[in-house]
Amino acid sequence: MNILLLGSGGREHAFAYKLSQSPLLSKLFIAPGNAGTSQFGTNLSIKADDFQAIKKAVIEYNIQLVVVGPEDPLVKGIHDFFLADDVLHSIPVIGPKKDGARLEGSKDFSKAFMVRNGIAAGKSKTFTADTIADGLAFLKTMHAPYVLKADGLAAGKGVVIPETLAEAETELKAMLLNKKFGEAGAKVLVEEFLKGIELSVFVLSDGKSYKILPSAKDYKRIGEGDTGLNTGGMGAVSPVPFADAAFLKKVEDRIVIPTIEGLKKEGIDYRGFIFIGLMNVNGDPMVIEYNCRMGDPETEVVIPLLDSDLVEIFIAISKQKLDKIEIKIKPETAVTIMCVAGGYPGDYENGKVISGIEKVQDTIAFQAGTTLNSNGEIITNGGRVVALTSFGTTIAESVAKSIAAAETIQYDGKYYRRDVGRDLM
Ligand code: AMP
Ligand code: GLY
Repeated sequence: MNILLLGSGGREHAFAYKLSQSPLLSKLFIAPGNAGTSQFGTNLSIKADDFQAIKKAVIEYNIQLVVVGPEDPLVKGIHDFFLADDVLHSIPVIGPKKDGARLEGSKDFSKAFMVRNGIAAGKSKTFTADTIADGLAFLKTMHAPYVLKADGLAAGKGVVIPETLAEAETELKAMLLNKKFGEAGAKVLVEEFLKGIELSVFVLSDGKSYKILPSAKDYKRIGEGDTGLNTGGMGAVSPVPFADAAFLKKVEDRIVIPTIEGLKKEGIDYRGFIFIGLMNVNGDPMVIEYNCRMGDPETEVVIPLLDSDLVEIFIAISKQKLDKIEIKIKPETAVTIMCVAGGYPGDYENGKVISGIEKVQDTIAFQAGTTLNSNGEIITNGGRVVALTSFGTTIAESVAKSIAAAETIQYDGKYYRRDVGRDLM
């Protein structure tokens, strides 16, 4: 089977790595991919949301399955585009249609979905420019810290957590009146702050049944000790030790099953990954957010832990036969540490030559923001440059391997967090 994978991050390198292990794979194409994905297939110079160019490539390369990495094409309706097209409609797409992608594309929809389906989440209300007076009054009834969320996709920057009421009021006005996040912030949710430890659970859905993948914890802040600005993710650990069987049973009963049943009840035929961001509040899981795709860098720990054929899993999703297959997980602990560009998540420069990737041993180097220059050298091409995934029987063992790998890789401005996983040891 020929597969087209959309996206260009560490997540897509991890998918490409896993897909390429399948005897069911003939040829893999990645659009646009990065220097890492090119080891496993052919990178196509096509943006992941250029539907017409994707259609051309699907026909030209006789693609039989499409896997969507990032949220953008899903929220813009790539799956619906395939279903509506005479030539493409029978080619399965892994990733929900527009209706399911609203779980991520609209925080207002997603919160209302949780409420309708009795799924535990922080209380919230949604406001627009017309109802800003009500929003400011509602803020006064909440307690610090305040959680403000732009309804739409805002490149991971749409959640703001001010510490004081005055800052929260200023922020709400900036979002609703000054369009700080553009159209994505035309509606803003004011939400109750949930205090606890965050983790994520990943679910595969074929529209009928589901399978739960290992849990993961992401390290979002740039600085050690969870300080400084938010990033796309500086590292991850899977599975999460405190997500024991008793906790995961609560997650399944109270969150996963009502989510899958809710989608069915609402006529949403969801085929793909559901990423459930959770807060463990005194032992009880509450939903922070849904994403309609896998996480990055969570994919770099969760997918290598799979001891099953990923192509077979995707085929089962497309045929609604997920209940017929068993998903095996390796009994190991995976850790990934992300090396980023100097200055990230603020301004940074691309084009720094990267050396040492080939010297990495006992660790997988999943490339994220990389590309090849005209001399065939790997150069930086993004804020998050390379995710170093290691396995061990303990988090400490995996972390030590990933740090050794991070020291092996060199480029101007390299930075990574040395404390990934420390809070879980
Ligand atoms: P998101 O951009 O939706 O991933 O949210 C960014 C981060 O904001 C989350 O990962 C949480 O750390 C935090 N967050 C979002 N909602 C809440 C909440 N209700 N209570 C506490 N933290 C939250
Ligand atoms: N690592 C968080 C995300 O992929 O949204």
